[in-house]
Amino acid sequence: METKKVINPANKLLQERSSIRKYNKNVKINREELKNILHDAMTAPSSLNLQPWRFVVIDSEEGKKLIEPCMMFNHIQWETSSAIIAVFADKQCADYTEKIIGEDIRLGYKTAEEGQKYIEKIKTYTSSYSPVKLSNSIMLDCGFVIMQLMFSAKNYGYDTNPIGGYLHNELSAALNMDTDRYLPVLLISIGKADEKYKDTNRFSVDEITQWV
Ligand SMILES: Cc1cc2nc3c(=O)[nH]c(=O)nc-3n(C[C@H](O)[C@H](O)[C@H](O)COP(=O)(O)O)c2cc1C
Repeated sequence: METKKVINPANKLLQERSSIRKYNKNVKINREELKNILHDAMTAPSSLNLQPWRFVVIDSEEGKKLIEPCMMFNHIQWETSSAIIAVFADKQCADYTEKIIGEDIRLGYKTAEEGQKYIEKIKTYTSSYSPVKLSNSIMLDCGFVIMQLMFSAKNYGYDTNPIGGYLHNELSAALNMDTDRYLPVLLISIGKADEKYKDTNRFSVDEITQWV
């Protein structure tokens, strides 16, 4: 196993994130702070900058009750977290192409001509996607935002646990999500840690890397 080396603040954040499953129930993260955490996370890259991630933040008692039957073996996170963030991938993200590129033009990041060309490029490219390619692409993008969300939370003094063990269809139904459009990706519990970090090992770089 490789030793963890803390070199700079970013590296510290990487080394100090670990899954926390039990939180201090008395610490409630307010919506403004949750919005800031999401805002920072959304600097994540995405294919063609289509940003297919959609969030449902479950931070009320009623909301928590709605999703309780979907939590499988992850009850402790459900019970103690300040919020659970459900991440969905929007299969219709390309519908927002004009809005996204229009904003780039308005902000002076692209000229009108560059923007128009880019819009054409996105439309041509995305219209050739098979359903599997589309799902893979938007799920991958959501993976980036989720990772950033977990680091962002840490930056604000909170901890998280990515949760894949939940009843996906039931959760979509409980949250009234259109299942033809939104793919369930992952839940993230967030709160103030009320347990020690548990170390988990990683492969060494040499075990899993080839050099060509
Ligand atoms: C896609 C995904 C799904 C996961 N699902 C669960 C889960 O359902 N319950 C849980 O307690 N942890 C879950 N985890 C957390 C992993 O168990 C954890 O990340 C891994 O053991 C490494 O530990 P660390 O996060 O502390 O570094 C999941 C992680 C990922 C990336």
